[in-house]
Amino acid sequence: MKVIRAKHAGACYGVQRALDMAYAAVDDGNTAYTLGPLIHNPQVVETLEQHGVSVAESIDNVSEGIVIIRSHGVVPQVKKAAEERDLPIIDATCPHVSRAQRAAAALAEEGYEIVIVGEAGHPEVEGMTAYAREAGGNVVIVADVEELPSDLKEPIGVVVQTTQAKENLDAVVEALEERGLSPYVKNTICFATRQRQEAAAELARSVDALVVIGGRNSSNTTRLHDICKVHCEHSYHIETPEEIDPDWFNRCDEVGVTAGASTPEDQIESVIDYLESL
Ligand code: F3S
Repeated sequence: MKVIRAKHAGACYGVQRALDMAYAAVDDGNTAYTLGPLIHNPQVVETLEQHGVSVAESIDNVSEGIVIIRSHGVVPQVKKAAEERDLPIIDATCPHVSRAQRAAAALAEEGYEIVIVGEAGHPEVEGMTAYAREAGGNVVIVADVEELPSDLKEPIGVVVQTTQAKENLDAVVEALEERGLSPYVKNTICFATRQRQEAAAELARSVDALVVIGGRNSSNTTRLHDICKVHCEHSYHIETPEEIDPDWFNRCDEVGVTAGASTPEDQIESVIDYLESL
């Protein structure tokens, strides 16, 4: 059985960077805390814990050690709270997310009413919102065009959660333009998610079965699995090689492998090794 890996799969730049920073933080025996799991991958969170990186629910639960800020960033108040307690901070906010935060704050400073296209309640969107409000901005969060309020006033600035689909941003901008408004758009989308989805769909169309690796609590991995199922009915979402049933691949000549943006390289390699041994 031939095992084919998707052209783009696994840990994105921001996640890998956050992981590297977390391991480096505890390299010389320090203890560190992430506010919520560093990534949505239970095996990695467990390994981090063994190395001294624990999960705290909030900054209020941390009284010592290093505070590691996750790749999707935090509201500025969290950094201030850590500083007030003299807790050292390692800021692993993905540079793409920092850019989105700066874009929201800059629009606020320039007097724009800000529309954030993204998921309300997502930590990344909460961070962008807080940076914009700190800079004096009025912020509206919309998941899609349906949620656009009718009473927006110019000038309007639009920023977008890094993992949003470009089509969703375009639809919001078009709807504003149809109302005769002239939104100023800062496209802060990161294309790592899109690349993984397109590569997974392409692979799923050509193989007999497909394995999607990543945490069951990882929404980007779940979405990858959904996309793969559309093109290949024998698509399976797993976290570890032990979950693989060799019977899935009866009469398969080619099996594809892809992985979510929170799946590190060693997990992908262990699955590929196992599949190649069947
Ligand atoms: Fe950063 Fe994009 Fe990954 S924003 S965390 S590189 S999905």
